[in-house]
Amino acid sequence: MPWMPYVWSMQTATPAVPTPSFDLHGWRREIPVLERFVPLNACSHAPQTTRTRAAAEAYLDSWNRDGMDWHGWLAEVDAAKAEFATLIGASPDEIAVSTSVSAATASLASALDFSGARTRVLASEAEFPTVGQVWLGHEKYGVQVDWVPVRDGLIETGDYAEAIDERVRVVSACHGYYQNGFKQDVAAIASAAHAAGAWIYVDAYQTLGTGPIDVKALDVDFLAGGTLKYLMAAPGIAFLYVRSELIDKLTPAVTGWFGRANPYAFDAKSLDWSPTATRFETGTPPLLNAYVARAGLSIINEVGPGAIQEWTDQLQKRLIDGADQRGLEIQGTRDIARKTPSTAFLCPMESHLVEAALRERGFLTSARGPAIRIAPHFFNTLEEMDRALDALVEVFAAGQR
Ligand SMILES: Cc1ncc(COP(=O)(O)O)c(C=O)c1O
Repeated sequence: MPWMPYVWSMQTATPAVPTPSFDLHGWRREIPVLERFVPLNACSHAPQTTRTRAAAEAYLDSWNRDGMDWHGWLAEVDAAKAEFATLIGASPDEIAVSTSVSAATASLASALDFSGARTRVLASEAEFPTVGQVWLGHEKYGVQVDWVPVRDGLIETGDYAEAIDERVRVVSACHGYYQNGFKQDVAAIASAAHAAGAWIYVDAYQTLGTGPIDVKALDVDFLAGGTLKYLMAAPGIAFLYVRSELIDKLTPAVTGWFGRANPYAFDAKSLDWSPTATRFETGTPPLLNAYVARAGLSIINEVGPGAIQEWTDQLQKRLIDGADQRGLEIQGTRDIARKTPSTAFLCPMESHLVEAALRERGFLTSARGPAIRIAPHFFNTLEEMDRALDALVEVFAAGQR
């Protein structure tokens, strides 16, 4: 065979090391805890950034300096809603602020009419307990809750179509499964729900901030999420999206003065409704949390959900390939296209002991059931994946001795 330098160099060239499309090290400098720990628990709680800390301090400074700046503080809540709306491709008028996904879901559930022929809620077994529990709380009003099963750590989309009928009022299908990161095909589930005249509610807490989410393209009716996981913020605040066409059809029983057309009318005997999604709000919004939420959301919107997904896909690939090389067992799907960045590793011992042992070695992870979840985010490096897996192997080996 003649000498072919080009082909030779192609064959021996080492594959290029993937790099993110954003300034990874610039962002890392904004995360002080990286000096002590490798945060790999974004499925549970994201690390603090200089930006989120400054936002909390901005509220505290204003409170201290001005005594009260009610309208300025409420403007920050609106700004946080607008950031959330940008993130999911909605209009700010379609966003309600709440204090938790539980509270947002309860407010929505209280607005649904179960008095007619549509008495069923079809919920996935992958729902975070709080969501299932809100629906179960409505059994006393005659609601029948049925479950689409999780099998082998995932749900077959076709199972929804089989279970939906004209008695279903709402299908409750989380986007990402908190247990192992399995991601549902929400667009397909929405289409099955709509074909039967049902609505679809999506808890997107585990996917918001991990990649692009467009509520219009997915065609979902309701979507909820909080900010302390991949949205880089803190607890105490959550958002509810309500599709604009549905807003004036729904009146929640869980309500309060912020649900009114004019909260400052101060008329306890009147129950008018805000024309926007604020009708799903209740009391004084979480003001301090809104400062932090806006800052966290702005980081995600600035880095870009698409760029985040590209990079976390690389991190996941490194984790899954590395798990195979080290003989570690993964719970749930290994298909990156069907996963959030969270990967669940089955533990040969109590998973909370594994979490504690990894913390001692400098890695923040999150135990859930029989598995330890390693959930990288945009600020993590490939090298951190290798080191975390080595630490996991060490912890498992020590635990088995
Ligand atoms: C998917 C999902 N939904 C809801 C929650 C809890 O929401 P909240 O505490 O805001 O009610 C969590 C985790 O805390 C979660 O992972």
